[in-house]
Amino acid sequence: MQRTYIGDILRGRANGREVTVAGWAQDIRNLKNVTFIVLRDSTGRLQVNVKDQKLRDAVSDLARESVISVSGAIVEEPKSRLGAEIDAYSINILNRSDAPLPMGVDDPVEADFETRLNNRFIDLRKPEKAMIFRVESSMLWGIRKFLKEQGFVEVHSPKIVAAATEGGAELFPVQYFEKKAYLNQSPQLYKEILMSAGLDRVFEVGPAFRAEEHNTPRHLNEFTSVDIEVSFADHEDVMGILENAIGQGIKQVKEDLGGELEALSLRMPEARVPFPRITYERCLEELSRDGINVNFGEDLSPEQLRLLGDRMGGFYFITKWPSSLRPFYTMPDPERPEITNSFDLQFREKEITSGAQRVHDPKMLEQRFRAKGLNPTDFEFYIKAFRYGMPPHAGWGLGLERLVMILLDLPNIREATLFPRDRTRVVP
Ligand code: 4AD
Repeated sequence: MQRTYIGDILRGRANGREVTVAGWAQDIRNLKNVTFIVLRDSTGRLQVNVKDQKLRDAVSDLARESVISVSGAIVEEPKSRLGAEIDAYSINILNRSDAPLPMGVDDPVEADFETRLNNRFIDLRKPEKAMIFRVESSMLWGIRKFLKEQGFVEVHSPKIVAAATEGGAELFPVQYFEKKAYLNQSPQLYKEILMSAGLDRVFEVGPAFRAEEHNTPRHLNEFTSVDIEVSFADHEDVMGILENAIGQGIKQVKEDLGGELEALSLRMPEARVPFPRITYERCLEELSRDGINVNFGEDLSPEQLRLLGDRMGGFYFITKWPSSLRPFYTMPDPERPEITNSFDLQFREKEITSGAQRVHDPKMLEQRFRAKGLNPTDFEFYIKAFRYGMPPHAGWGLGLERLVMILLDLPNIREATLFPRDRTRVVP
């Protein structure tokens, strides 16, 4: 269909005075001598003036959110509150909407969150909601572009797997013919095998599944994981790649969407590279100065992270976590095996990414499995890759929805998830 985007008309960039626009009839008002339609497409809204009686009859009973195309003339110098108008000379009804709508697009009071998620196809018609996913797209584009420039190969690992990677209990079982299998919690084991295979630098963007039973504003049961793994690298090397990848992602968002974000009062934080680094043990010292005693080996609570976040500001790394808090594949510090070559990237009190140098010695790996109460024979397909030439390696994984939630300061990760999967939600 030949059509002009409303955004181009609003910006005075339409080609010619006669145009065809297509979209949703957001509002229809029948006045004495004219019918006004607020027409919306993916780029904006304008007012359609319908004066011809035949056309008015055709649209008078049209339900809101019906899909139409309108051909007409752009009104020069409109005083319309929407900034542009067209006088219709033909209207084509492409698909009628049912009435009443389950929720409105421009209702002054927003529907509750559950209703919004149940009717996501309407919810996302609101520009400020759709913008979240445009930000996500640009962010990922910026990260992908950066990684590609750094020589990374994009890979796709299986999502139906035989073993846990990130924790024994949080697995969704799948009946796989005669066998029991699981939905993958992370591409961790496969990206490491690819280091042994010599791919050198890989990244993957794909779904990760966690059967965490609790519903929180920061957790999903299915999220999009952006993962990298790098050969002949340690945790410091991949922290450098991470901060630059985030920086490039934010730059891409600003380049693509800067003006539109401002118009919707959305802001992206600055990413000043390098991000500050603080060790886990320094965090404990900082907290103890506030009279809060955390024993070595204990995880930091949300409240404690809030205090640290207030002190550290935006992006910062917490490094050198205790071994007891990190998965089996995490490399212990060679000088002090009770701590690890690991890190979390934080934004204020919130975790965006976790990463580490990995164990590459198969003997040490088997010990680490046993120390975590896991049976190495269950991971034979993985350990095997370590026995025949595994280079030292490091990597990280970040939750894309978590990142966007944090950067746009959204109250709930579900706002940054098209169709969230949580403890109670598998539909739509
Ligand atoms: O900290 P996690 O579990 O680490 C891994 O998956 C490692 N294999 C990564 C690595 O390469 N070392 O998850 C990594 C990130 C978290 O920082 C968080 O952003 C996100 O994935 N994440 C979740 N996002 C939404 N819902 C959940 N349930 C998440 N669990 C983790």
